[in-house]
Amino acid sequence: MTWLEYHELTKHSAESLQRTQHYLDWANMPNPFRHYEGVPVLDLPADPPATEISAFEVLEGKIGNTLAGDGAEFLSQLMFYSASISASKRVPSTGAIYSLRVNPSSGNLHPTEFHFCARGLVGWPNGLYHYRPSSHMAEQRAIGDFAAKLGNNSTPLIFVLTSIAWREAWKYRNRAYRYCLHDIGHAWQSLTLAARSIGCESFAFGHFSDDRVAESCLLSADEWPMLIVGLHGPSIPLNKLDTVETVVFGGQPNRLSEEQEVYPLIERIHAATKFNTESSIPSPGQPKLSGRGDFRLPPPVSTNRSFGDVVRTRRSALDFKGGGESISYPQLATLLSTTRERLFADFATHCYVHLYLYVHRVEGLEPGVYRFWPEHAELERIKSGDQRLVAAALSLGQDLAGNACVAFSMIGDFENAASTYGDRGYRYVHFEAGAIGQRMYLAAEALGLRATGIGAFFDEEVNRYLGLSAELGQVVYHFAIGYPVADPRLEA
Ligand SMILES: Cc1cc2nc3c(=O)[nH]c(=O)nc-3n(C[C@H](O)[C@H](O)[C@H](O)COP(=O)(O)O)c2cc1C
Repeated sequence: MTWLEYHELTKHSAESLQRTQHYLDWANMPNPFRHYEGVPVLDLPADPPATEISAFEVLEGKIGNTLAGDGAEFLSQLMFYSASISASKRVPSTGAIYSLRVNPSSGNLHPTEFHFCARGLVGWPNGLYHYRPSSHMAEQRAIGDFAAKLGNNSTPLIFVLTSIAWREAWKYRNRAYRYCLHDIGHAWQSLTLAARSIGCESFAFGHFSDDRVAESCLLSADEWPMLIVGLHGPSIPLNKLDTVETVVFGGQPNRLSEEQEVYPLIERIHAATKFNTESSIPSPGQPKLSGRGDFRLPPPVSTNRSFGDVVRTRRSALDFKGGGESISYPQLATLLSTTRERLFADFATHCYVHLYLYVHRVEGLEPGVYRFWPEHAELERIKSGDQRLVAAALSLGQDLAGNACVAFSMIGDFENAASTYGDRGYRYVHFEAGAIGQRMYLAAEALGLRATGIGAFFDEEVNRYLGLSAELGQVVYHFAIGYPVADPRLEA
């Protein structure tokens, strides 16, 4: 199997939806919380202090600081603002309550798990940990220098983000692998920006030997390592590094469902994108030449809403208020400018994702389809006229893409990524799209707007509507931003 075969086979079309009617087996819904039972569980202090730096400063690359005096306080702040539970919803018909987290997730199914290797943190044993969001605690899976086992001898905190594909496949079946990859992109930025808000820079590695990392991190077979994120910076409270004996607790992973169905297509695309050897990441060729647009974006605006407040209140809109209020042109410029900042990762030397906008209600900009050219912050008009019906129709008939003020098709240059990284490039394009989405989620929230990631779209219809050829790329993710309708199920 190649990335292209998987991508073709998981495209949505009117026929594919009719052909594959799927009924959700609620009794078998996977548990969104992984626990490793039988290991020591370390408390992370409750109610960590708020991060004061503004969300826009963090998005622009400014580094904040922390008063955390030891490892537990530092980790508590980091996880609270990147991956913890931040709200809940009540289902009116049953009264059942389910939780929502700082990082968004396709279908709220949360395939991503956060593992980390800590070394030299004040008052925190060196070892391998798994974050337990359900109780804001860390499961200690082993004591010892596990960062060294990952081949890193200098970074005090290394995260390994994993995907449990079954959680997504339960609902989205074969297409679920795409959503796992998007979710990793969101989780990556969620972690990276939270780290930055408390004084740390980060660098992500997508290029590693999967089996070696899975073995070093004692991952259970249903968890696949996807991204390694190293954090460094003077704000991490560090001791002189002691050598400690390795003690492995491991722990028993909880069972997520009564029955776990196997999706051979997902197994095959995952196998196709794996590396089993240690090799350095190939250098990409020349970046594609950039283009110019006819509309120069105005300077971005800013707000001083704190990063902590923004990430804790970020939510996806269920739908947007169609008609009525517009967003301003500078607000649009702000949303777009947050997508221009460099991503720090071994696969991010070139950008593989570019944005097309369906402009519905932006003051001073006529409705139409535009391409965003980031180098000069310009928009190129591709089509004129009302795009509300078409944006909703292309997003699998979801009204929110038409009711938003602006919707997006993110276009992935898969061919170019694959020519450098082979099938592994398929992961990187999705990570980049998820990362851009996460940045727009936070920018929208900071502006008093709301966003929603949209993984469901009619692939070929989008490609055709935008007039894309294979070398221009294919749609990889949809997104929408506007004024949300109230969600009565939401509880703070
Ligand atoms: C990759 C991805 C794809 C998504 N696709 C859709 C979608 O097609 N339609 C939709 O209404 N919401 C979509 N969402 C939003 C999720 O449903 C939402 O993130 C989840 O319910 C959790 O809510 P929260 O974002 O408020 O935490 C998507 C989110 C992500 C990250």
